[in-house]
Amino acid sequence: MTGSKSTPAHRGLWSSRMAFILAATGSAVGLGNIWKFPYVTGENGGGAFVLVYLLCIAIVGIPIMMAEVYIGRSGRHNPITSFRLVAERNLASPVWRISAIVGVLAAFIILSFYSVIGGWAASYVGHAAMGDFTGQSADAIGELFGGLLASPVTLLIWHTIFMALVILVVARGLKSGLERAVTILMPALFVLLLVAVGYATTTGHFGEAVSFLFTPDFGALTMDGVLVALGHAFFTLSLGMAIMMAYGSYLGDDVSVGRTAVTVSIMDTVVALMAGLAIFPVVFANGLEAGAGPGLIFQTLPLAFGQMPMGSVFGALFFVLLLFAAWTSAISLLEPVVEWLEDKLIVGRVGSTVVVGIACWLLGIASILSLNEWSGFAPLGMFERFEGNTIFDLLDFFTANVMLPLSGLLTALFVGWCVAKESLQSNLALSGGGFALWYNLVRFVTPVAVAIVFVYNLMS
Ligand code: PHE
Ligand code: NA
Repeated sequence: MTGSKSTPAHRGLWSSRMAFILAATGSAVGLGNIWKFPYVTGENGGGAFVLVYLLCIAIVGIPIMMAEVYIGRSGRHNPITSFRLVAERNLASPVWRISAIVGVLAAFIILSFYSVIGGWAASYVGHAAMGDFTGQSADAIGELFGGLLASPVTLLIWHTIFMALVILVVARGLKSGLERAVTILMPALFVLLLVAVGYATTTGHFGEAVSFLFTPDFGALTMDGVLVALGHAFFTLSLGMAIMMAYGSYLGDDVSVGRTAVTVSIMDTVVALMAGLAIFPVVFANGLEAGAGPGLIFQTLPLAFGQMPMGSVFGALFFVLLLFAAWTSAISLLEPVVEWLEDKLIVGRVGSTVVVGIACWLLGIASILSLNEWSGFAPLGMFERFEGNTIFDLLDFFTANVMLPLSGLLTALFVGWCVAKESLQSNLALSGGGFALWYNLVRFVTPVAVAIVFVYNLMS
Protein backbone atom coordinates (compact mmCIF):
# COMPACT_ATOMS: atom_id res chain seq x y z
CA MET A 1 0.00 0.00 0.00
CA THR A 2 2.61 2.54 1.02
CA GLY A 3 5.95 2.65 -0.70
CA SER A 4 8.49 1.43 1.80
CA LYS A 5 11.29 0.94 -0.65
CA SER A 6 14.63 2.38 0.47
CA THR A 7 13.49 2.24 4.08
CA PRO A 8 16.61 2.61 6.24
CA ALA A 9 17.80 -0.69 7.67
CA HIS A 10 17.64 0.42 11.29
CA ARG A 11 13.88 0.93 11.09
CA GLY A 12 11.30 -1.39 12.59
CA LEU A 13 7.55 -1.25 13.14
CA TRP A 14 5.38 -1.04 16.25
CA SER A 15 4.46 -4.60 17.19
CA SER A 16 0.77 -3.78 16.99
CA ARG A 17 -1.71 -1.04 16.33
CA MET A 18 -2.19 -0.93 20.10
CA ALA A 19 1.49 -0.15 20.64
CA PHE A 20 1.17 2.88 18.37
CA ILE A 21 -2.01 3.98 20.11
CA LEU A 22 -0.33 3.76 23.52
CA ALA A 23 2.71 5.67 22.33
CA ALA A 24 0.71 8.39 20.56
CA THR A 25 -1.63 8.66 23.54
CA GLY A 26 1.44 8.80 25.78
CA SER A 27 2.63 11.75 23.76
CA ALA A 28 -0.73 13.46 23.76
CA VAL A 29 -1.47 12.94 27.43
CA GLY A 30 0.79 15.28 29.32
CA LEU A 31 0.99 18.47 31.28
CA GLY A 32 -1.57 19.84 28.84
CA ASN A 33 -4.24 17.47 30.14
CA ILE A 34 -3.45 17.46 33.82
CA TRP A 35 -2.05 20.93 34.38
CA LYS A 36 -3.27 23.18 31.60
CA PHE A 37 -6.73 21.90 30.65
CA PRO A 38 -8.16 22.16 34.18
CA TYR A 39 -6.85 25.67 34.72
CA VAL A 40 -7.81 27.12 31.34
CA THR A 41 -11.25 25.58 31.81
CA GLY A 42 -11.39 27.21 35.22
CA GLU A 43 -10.28 30.56 33.82
CA ASN A 44 -12.77 30.45 30.95
CA GLY A 45 -15.90 29.61 32.79
CA GLY A 46 -16.21 25.82 32.54
CA GLY A 47 -18.81 24.03 30.40
CA ALA A 48 -19.07 26.40 27.45
CA PHE A 49 -15.32 26.38 27.07
CA VAL A 50 -15.26 22.58 27.20
CA LEU A 51 -17.83 22.44 24.42
CA VAL A 52 -15.84 24.75 22.15
CA TYR A 53 -12.69 22.81 22.94
CA LEU A 54 -14.36 19.54 21.87
CA LEU A 55 -15.40 21.19 18.62
CA CYS A 56 -11.82 22.32 17.99
CA ILE A 57 -10.52 18.80 18.59
CA ALA A 58 -13.01 17.56 15.99
CA ILE A 59 -12.48 20.11 13.24
CA VAL A 60 -8.80 20.97 13.65
CA GLY A 61 -7.09 18.43 15.88
CA ILE A 62 -8.25 15.15 14.42
CA PRO A 63 -7.85 16.21 10.76
CA ILE A 64 -4.26 17.37 11.31
CA MET A 65 -3.37 14.29 13.30
CA MET A 66 -4.53 12.11 10.40
CA ALA A 67 -2.48 14.22 7.98
CA GLU A 68 0.66 13.90 10.10
CA VAL A 69 0.36 10.15 10.63
CA TYR A 70 -0.30 9.76 6.90
CA ILE A 71 2.93 11.57 5.97
CA GLY A 72 5.00 9.60 8.44
CA ARG A 73 3.70 6.25 7.34
CA SER A 74 3.94 7.05 3.64
CA GLY A 75 7.48 8.34 3.95
CA ARG A 76 8.84 5.80 6.44
CA HIS A 77 11.79 8.04 7.23
CA ASN A 78 12.42 10.83 9.68
CA PRO A 79 9.74 13.53 9.40
CA ILE A 80 11.74 15.85 7.15
CA THR A 81 12.76 13.16 4.67
CA SER A 82 9.27 11.63 4.77
CA PHE A 83 7.77 15.00 3.88
CA ARG A 84 10.18 15.38 0.97
CA LEU A 85 9.49 11.87 -0.32
CA VAL A 86 5.72 12.35 -0.22
CA ALA A 87 6.13 15.72 -1.98
CA GLU A 88 8.28 14.17 -4.72
CA ARG A 89 5.83 11.33 -5.22
CA ASN A 90 3.09 13.91 -5.77
CA LEU A 91 5.24 16.16 -7.97
CA ALA A 92 4.99 18.91 -5.38
CA SER A 93 7.81 21.20 -4.35
CA PRO A 94 10.23 19.77 -1.78
CA VAL A 95 9.98 23.18 -0.09
CA TRP A 96 6.83 21.88 1.64
CA ARG A 97 9.13 20.02 3.99
CA ILE A 98 9.63 23.33 5.83
CA SER A 99 6.56 22.15 7.72
CA ALA A 100 8.53 19.22 9.11
CA ILE A 101 11.70 21.28 9.65
CA VAL A 102 9.74 23.77 11.74
CA GLY A 103 8.11 20.86 13.57
CA VAL A 104 11.37 19.09 14.41
CA LEU A 105 12.94 22.34 15.55
CA ALA A 106 9.89 23.09 17.70
CA ALA A 107 10.11 19.63 19.28
CA PHE A 108 13.72 20.28 20.19
CA ILE A 109 13.02 23.67 21.74
CA ILE A 110 9.89 22.55 23.57
CA LEU A 111 11.68 19.56 25.07
CA SER A 112 14.32 21.88 26.54
CA PHE A 113 11.78 23.59 28.80
CA TYR A 114 9.31 20.70 29.07
CA SER A 115 12.11 18.85 30.84
CA VAL A 116 12.44 21.66 33.37
CA ILE A 117 8.72 21.42 34.19
CA GLY A 118 8.95 17.61 34.23
CA GLY A 119 11.61 18.15 36.86
CA TRP A 120 9.14 20.11 39.00
CA ALA A 121 6.76 17.14 38.89
CA ALA A 122 9.59 14.80 39.92
CA SER A 123 10.55 17.01 42.84
CA TYR A 124 6.93 17.25 43.99
CA VAL A 125 6.64 13.45 44.20
CA GLY A 126 9.29 13.68 46.89
CA HIS A 127 7.71 16.65 48.67
CA ALA A 128 4.30 15.00 48.78
CA ALA A 129 5.63 11.63 49.94
CA MET A 130 7.69 13.24 52.71
CA GLY A 131 4.60 15.00 54.01
CA ASP A 132 5.99 18.46 53.23
CA PHE A 133 2.49 19.78 52.51
CA THR A 134 0.88 18.40 55.67
CA GLY A 135 -0.86 21.11 57.63
CA GLN A 136 0.93 23.89 55.75
CA SER A 137 -0.55 27.31 55.11
CA ALA A 138 -1.09 28.66 51.61
CA ASP A 139 1.88 30.99 52.17
CA ALA A 140 4.19 28.18 53.17
CA ILE A 141 3.20 26.17 50.11
CA GLY A 142 3.66 29.18 47.88
CA GLU A 143 7.12 29.63 49.38
CA LEU A 144 7.97 26.01 48.67
CA PHE A 145 7.15 26.53 44.99
CA GLY A 146 8.87 29.92 44.91
CA GLY A 147 11.91 28.38 46.57
CA LEU A 148 12.13 25.70 43.89
CA LEU A 149 11.97 28.27 41.09
CA ALA A 150 14.51 30.49 42.84
CA SER A 151 17.13 27.76 43.12
CA PRO A 152 19.05 27.11 39.89
CA VAL A 153 20.91 24.20 41.44
CA THR A 154 17.78 22.35 42.55
CA LEU A 155 16.12 22.97 39.19
CA LEU A 156 19.23 21.79 37.37
CA ILE A 157 19.39 18.57 39.38
CA TRP A 158 15.75 17.69 38.57
CA HIS A 159 16.08 18.79 34.95
CA THR A 160 19.14 16.53 34.63
CA ILE A 161 17.38 13.56 36.21
CA PHE A 162 14.31 14.03 34.02
CA MET A 163 16.32 14.40 30.81
CA ALA A 164 18.39 11.33 31.71
CA LEU A 165 15.18 9.30 32.05
CA VAL A 166 14.09 10.45 28.61
CA ILE A 167 17.45 9.74 26.96
CA LEU A 168 17.56 6.31 28.57
CA VAL A 169 14.30 5.26 26.91
CA VAL A 170 14.86 6.81 23.49
CA ALA A 171 18.42 5.48 23.19
CA ARG A 172 17.10 1.91 23.47
CA GLY A 173 15.12 2.36 20.30
CA LEU A 174 11.61 1.58 19.19
CA LYS A 175 10.84 -1.85 20.65
CA SER A 176 12.88 -2.10 23.83
CA GLY A 177 12.77 1.64 24.51
CA LEU A 178 9.65 3.51 23.45
CA GLU A 179 7.28 0.58 23.18
CA ARG A 180 8.31 -0.98 26.47
CA ALA A 181 8.08 2.33 28.32
CA VAL A 182 4.59 3.13 27.09
CA THR A 183 3.19 -0.36 27.68
CA ILE A 184 4.19 -0.03 31.34
CA LEU A 185 3.58 3.67 31.92
CA MET A 186 0.28 4.19 30.12
CA PRO A 187 -1.76 1.51 31.93
CA ALA A 188 -0.17 2.70 35.20
CA LEU A 189 -1.17 6.25 34.39
CA PHE A 190 -4.71 5.20 33.65
CA VAL A 191 -5.02 3.30 36.93
CA LEU A 192 -3.61 6.27 38.88
CA LEU A 193 -6.11 8.54 37.20
CA LEU A 194 -8.97 6.22 38.13
CA VAL A 195 -7.77 6.21 41.73
CA ALA A 196 -7.64 10.02 41.64
CA VAL A 197 -11.18 10.26 40.26
CA GLY A 198 -12.29 7.64 42.76
CA TYR A 199 -10.89 9.74 45.58
CA ALA A 200 -12.56 12.85 44.16
CA THR A 201 -15.97 11.15 44.41
CA THR A 202 -15.49 10.91 48.18
CA THR A 203 -14.99 14.65 48.67
CA GLY A 204 -18.69 15.40 48.55
CA HIS A 205 -18.17 17.95 45.79
CA PHE A 206 -18.08 15.64 42.78
CA GLY A 207 -21.48 16.79 41.51
CA GLU A 208 -20.34 20.39 41.66
CA ALA A 209 -17.34 19.54 39.50
CA VAL A 210 -19.50 17.66 37.00
CA SER A 211 -21.83 20.61 36.57
CA PHE A 212 -18.86 23.01 36.40
CA LEU A 213 -17.33 21.01 33.55
CA PHE A 214 -20.50 20.09 31.68
CA THR A 215 -23.01 22.90 32.15
CA PRO A 216 -22.33 25.41 29.40
CA ASP A 217 -22.55 29.04 30.48
CA PHE A 218 -22.03 30.88 27.23
CA GLY A 219 -22.01 34.20 29.03
CA ALA A 220 -18.64 33.26 30.52
CA LEU A 221 -17.13 32.50 27.13
CA THR A 222 -15.05 35.18 25.42
CA MET A 223 -13.44 35.37 21.99
CA ASP A 224 -10.14 34.87 23.78
CA GLY A 225 -11.55 31.72 25.28
CA VAL A 226 -12.37 30.36 21.82
CA LEU A 227 -8.83 31.01 20.63
CA VAL A 228 -7.35 29.45 23.74
CA ALA A 229 -9.49 26.39 23.04
CA LEU A 230 -8.19 26.14 19.48
CA GLY A 231 -4.58 26.65 20.50
CA HIS A 232 -4.95 24.08 23.22
CA ALA A 233 -6.45 21.52 20.82
CA PHE A 234 -3.15 21.70 18.94
CA PHE A 235 -0.95 21.45 21.96
CA THR A 236 -2.89 18.71 23.68
CA LEU A 237 -2.77 16.39 20.66
CA SER A 238 0.97 17.04 20.19
CA LEU A 239 0.47 18.46 16.70
CA GLY A 240 2.79 20.71 14.71
CA MET A 241 5.89 19.11 16.22
CA ALA A 242 6.46 16.30 13.72
CA ILE A 243 5.70 13.83 16.52
CA MET A 244 2.82 12.05 14.83
CA MET A 245 4.91 11.85 11.65
CA ALA A 246 7.78 10.30 13.60
CA TYR A 247 5.50 7.80 15.35
CA GLY A 248 3.46 7.18 12.21
CA SER A 249 6.62 6.19 10.34
CA TYR A 250 6.66 2.97 12.39
CA LEU A 251 2.97 2.16 11.85
CA GLY A 252 2.09 -1.05 10.01
CA ASP A 253 0.69 -0.80 6.50
CA ASP A 254 -2.55 -2.62 7.30
CA VAL A 255 -3.72 -0.12 9.94
CA SER A 256 -6.38 2.53 9.24
CA VAL A 257 -4.68 5.89 9.80
CA GLY A 258 -8.09 7.55 10.15
CA ARG A 259 -9.58 5.31 12.79
CA THR A 260 -6.32 5.19 14.73
CA ALA A 261 -6.03 8.97 14.88
CA VAL A 262 -9.61 9.23 16.10
CA THR A 263 -8.91 6.69 18.84
CA VAL A 264 -5.86 8.61 20.06
CA SER A 265 -7.76 11.89 20.09
CA ILE A 266 -10.63 10.38 22.05
CA MET A 267 -8.24 8.90 24.61
CA ASP A 268 -6.55 12.27 25.08
CA THR A 269 -9.90 13.99 25.54
CA VAL A 270 -11.11 11.37 28.00
CA VAL A 271 -7.95 11.82 30.07
CA ALA A 272 -8.34 15.60 30.09
CA LEU A 273 -11.94 15.32 31.27
CA MET A 274 -10.97 12.74 33.88
CA ALA A 275 -8.20 15.02 35.11
CA GLY A 276 -10.81 17.74 35.49
CA LEU A 277 -13.05 15.32 37.42
CA ALA A 278 -10.10 14.42 39.67
CA ILE A 279 -8.99 17.97 40.35
CA PHE A 280 -12.07 20.20 40.63
CA PRO A 281 -13.85 18.24 43.39
CA VAL A 282 -10.70 18.66 45.49
CA VAL A 283 -10.56 22.33 44.57
CA PHE A 284 -14.21 22.92 45.52
CA ALA A 285 -14.06 20.78 48.66
CA ASN A 286 -11.26 22.95 49.97
CA GLY A 287 -12.78 26.25 48.97
CA LEU A 288 -9.96 26.86 46.52
CA GLU A 289 -10.16 29.10 43.45
CA ALA A 290 -11.02 27.17 40.22
CA GLY A 291 -9.55 29.93 38.08
CA ALA A 292 -6.25 30.02 39.96
CA GLY A 293 -4.27 29.75 36.73
CA PRO A 294 -0.97 27.97 36.17
CA GLY A 295 -0.34 27.62 39.90
CA LEU A 296 -3.40 25.35 40.27
CA ILE A 297 -1.40 22.16 40.28
CA PHE A 298 1.78 23.19 42.05
CA GLN A 299 0.33 25.56 44.64
CA THR A 300 -3.39 25.10 45.02
CA LEU A 301 -3.60 21.31 44.99
CA PRO A 302 -0.73 20.73 47.46
CA LEU A 303 -2.65 22.89 49.88
CA ALA A 304 -5.54 20.47 49.59
CA PHE A 305 -3.26 17.42 49.84
CA GLY A 306 -1.85 18.88 53.04
CA GLN A 307 -5.29 18.92 54.63
CA MET A 308 -6.91 15.72 53.49
CA PRO A 309 -6.64 12.37 55.24
CA MET A 310 -3.85 10.30 53.65
CA GLY A 311 -2.89 13.42 51.74
CA SER A 312 0.76 12.46 51.45
CA VAL A 313 -0.13 9.15 49.79
CA PHE A 314 -2.68 10.71 47.49
CA GLY A 315 -0.44 13.69 46.74
CA ALA A 316 2.52 11.47 45.89
CA LEU A 317 0.32 9.34 43.63
CA PHE A 318 -0.92 12.44 41.89
CA PHE A 319 2.56 13.73 41.15
CA VAL A 320 3.71 10.28 40.00
CA LEU A 321 0.81 10.44 37.55
CA LEU A 322 1.97 13.86 36.39
CA LEU A 323 5.56 12.63 36.10
CA PHE A 324 4.59 9.59 33.99
CA ALA A 325 2.48 11.78 31.72
CA ALA A 326 5.34 14.25 31.26
CA TRP A 327 7.85 11.45 30.70
CA THR A 328 5.96 9.77 27.83
CA SER A 329 5.42 13.20 26.24
CA ALA A 330 9.09 14.11 26.53
CA ILE A 331 10.04 10.80 24.91
CA SER A 332 7.87 11.74 21.94
CA LEU A 333 9.54 15.16 21.69
CA LEU A 334 13.00 13.63 21.52
CA GLU A 335 12.05 10.95 18.97
CA PRO A 336 11.57 13.14 15.83
CA VAL A 337 14.88 14.93 16.37
CA VAL A 338 16.73 11.69 17.02
CA GLU A 339 15.16 10.04 13.96
CA TRP A 340 16.39 12.91 11.88
CA LEU A 341 19.95 12.83 13.23
CA GLU A 342 20.03 9.06 13.00
CA ASP A 343 19.32 9.30 9.27
CA LYS A 344 21.97 12.02 8.86
CA LEU A 345 24.81 10.87 11.07
CA ILE A 346 26.59 7.56 11.27
CA VAL A 347 26.73 7.50 15.06
CA GLY A 348 23.64 5.29 15.36
CA ARG A 349 20.68 5.39 17.69
CA VAL A 350 22.53 5.69 20.97
CA GLY A 351 24.97 8.30 19.70
CA SER A 352 22.22 10.39 18.10
CA THR A 353 20.10 10.26 21.26
CA VAL A 354 22.99 11.33 23.47
CA VAL A 355 23.98 14.20 21.14
CA VAL A 356 20.43 15.58 20.88
CA GLY A 357 19.71 14.92 24.55
CA ILE A 358 22.77 16.83 25.74
CA ALA A 359 22.11 19.74 23.38
CA CYS A 360 18.56 19.93 24.68
CA TRP A 361 19.72 19.69 28.27
CA LEU A 362 22.08 22.61 27.67
CA LEU A 363 19.32 24.76 26.15
CA GLY A 364 17.16 23.88 29.16
CA ILE A 365 19.65 25.66 31.39
CA ALA A 366 18.64 28.95 29.77
CA SER A 367 15.05 28.31 30.85
CA ILE A 368 16.18 27.42 34.36
CA LEU A 369 18.14 30.65 34.68
CA SER A 370 15.19 32.61 33.28
CA LEU A 371 13.35 31.69 36.47
CA ASN A 372 15.97 33.21 38.75
CA GLU A 373 19.42 34.62 37.85
CA TRP A 374 18.29 35.90 34.45
CA SER A 375 14.71 36.78 35.38
CA GLY A 376 15.40 40.42 34.53
CA PHE A 377 16.97 39.57 31.17
CA ALA A 378 14.54 40.25 28.31
CA PRO A 379 16.47 39.64 25.06
CA LEU A 380 13.67 41.14 22.92
CA GLY A 381 12.74 43.77 25.48
CA MET A 382 13.21 46.54 22.92
CA PHE A 383 9.91 45.42 21.34
CA GLU A 384 6.91 46.42 23.35
CA ARG A 385 5.26 43.05 22.71
CA PHE A 386 8.10 41.23 24.48
CA GLU A 387 8.81 43.63 27.31
CA GLY A 388 9.85 41.71 30.38
CA ASN A 389 9.79 38.35 28.60
CA THR A 390 12.56 36.02 29.68
CA ILE A 391 14.23 33.47 27.40
CA PHE A 392 11.84 30.84 28.80
CA ASP A 393 8.82 33.06 27.96
CA LEU A 394 10.12 33.66 24.45
CA LEU A 395 10.81 29.99 23.70
CA ASP A 396 7.33 29.14 24.93
CA PHE A 397 5.72 31.97 22.96
CA PHE A 398 7.44 31.30 19.64
CA THR A 399 6.94 27.56 19.69
CA ALA A 400 3.30 27.63 20.80
CA ASN A 401 2.15 30.67 18.84
CA VAL A 402 4.32 30.64 15.74
CA MET A 403 6.01 27.31 15.06
CA LEU A 404 3.24 24.84 15.90
CA PRO A 405 0.45 26.63 14.02
CA LEU A 406 2.76 27.27 11.07
CA SER A 407 3.80 23.63 10.86
CA GLY A 408 0.20 22.47 11.27
CA LEU A 409 -1.12 24.90 8.70
CA LEU A 410 1.44 23.82 6.09
CA THR A 411 0.75 20.15 6.80
CA ALA A 412 -3.00 20.60 6.33
CA LEU A 413 -2.53 22.58 3.11
CA PHE A 414 0.00 20.13 1.72
CA VAL A 415 -2.05 17.02 2.43
CA GLY A 416 -5.31 18.67 1.41
CA TRP A 417 -4.11 20.21 -1.83
CA CYS A 418 -0.96 18.42 -3.04
CA VAL A 419 -1.35 14.75 -2.19
CA ALA A 420 -3.20 12.34 -4.50
CA LYS A 421 -6.68 11.66 -3.22
CA GLU A 422 -6.53 7.90 -3.91
CA SER A 423 -3.50 7.49 -1.69
CA LEU A 424 -5.19 9.41 1.12
CA GLN A 425 -8.33 7.35 0.73
CA SER A 426 -6.58 3.99 0.92
CA ASN A 427 -4.32 5.01 3.80
CA LEU A 428 -6.91 6.67 5.98
CA ALA A 429 -9.26 3.75 5.31
CA LEU A 430 -12.35 5.56 6.56
CA SER A 431 -15.92 5.02 5.41
CA GLY A 432 -16.88 7.02 2.31
CA GLY A 433 -18.74 9.67 4.29
CA GLY A 434 -16.00 9.84 6.93
CA PHE A 435 -13.38 10.40 4.29
CA ALA A 436 -15.36 13.10 2.51
CA LEU A 437 -15.87 14.88 5.82
CA TRP A 438 -12.16 14.72 6.66
CA TYR A 439 -11.12 15.82 3.17
CA ASN A 440 -13.32 18.91 3.29
CA LEU A 441 -12.16 19.78 6.78
CA VAL A 442 -8.47 19.44 5.98
CA ARG A 443 -8.74 21.42 2.74
CA PHE A 444 -10.93 24.27 3.91
CA VAL A 445 -11.99 24.43 7.53
CA THR A 446 -8.78 23.42 9.31
CA PRO A 447 -6.45 25.83 7.46
CA VAL A 448 -8.84 28.75 7.93
CA ALA A 449 -9.28 28.03 11.64
CA VAL A 450 -5.53 27.71 12.20
CA ALA A 451 -4.79 30.83 10.18
CA ILE A 452 -7.25 32.84 12.29
CA VAL A 453 -5.61 31.79 15.56
CA PHE A 454 -2.18 32.36 14.07
CA VAL A 455 -2.89 35.92 13.05
CA TYR A 456 -4.83 36.74 16.20
CA ASN A 457 -2.07 35.47 18.48
CA LEU A 458 0.57 37.46 16.65
CA MET A 459 -1.49 40.61 16.83
CA SER A 460 -2.70 40.46 20.40
N1 PHE B 1 0.37 16.91 24.22
C1 PHE B 1 1.08 17.23 25.42
C2 PHE B 1 0.17 17.62 26.52
O1 PHE B 1 -1.00 17.68 26.39
C3 PHE B 1 2.00 18.33 25.28
C4 PHE B 1 3.07 18.05 24.40
C5 PHE B 1 3.41 18.96 23.55
C6 PHE B 1 3.70 16.86 24.45
C7 PHE B 1 4.37 18.71 22.73
C8 PHE B 1 4.68 16.60 23.63
C9 PHE B 1 5.00 17.52 22.77
O2 PHE B 1 0.66 17.91 27.57
NA1 NA C 1 -2.73 16.29 25.77
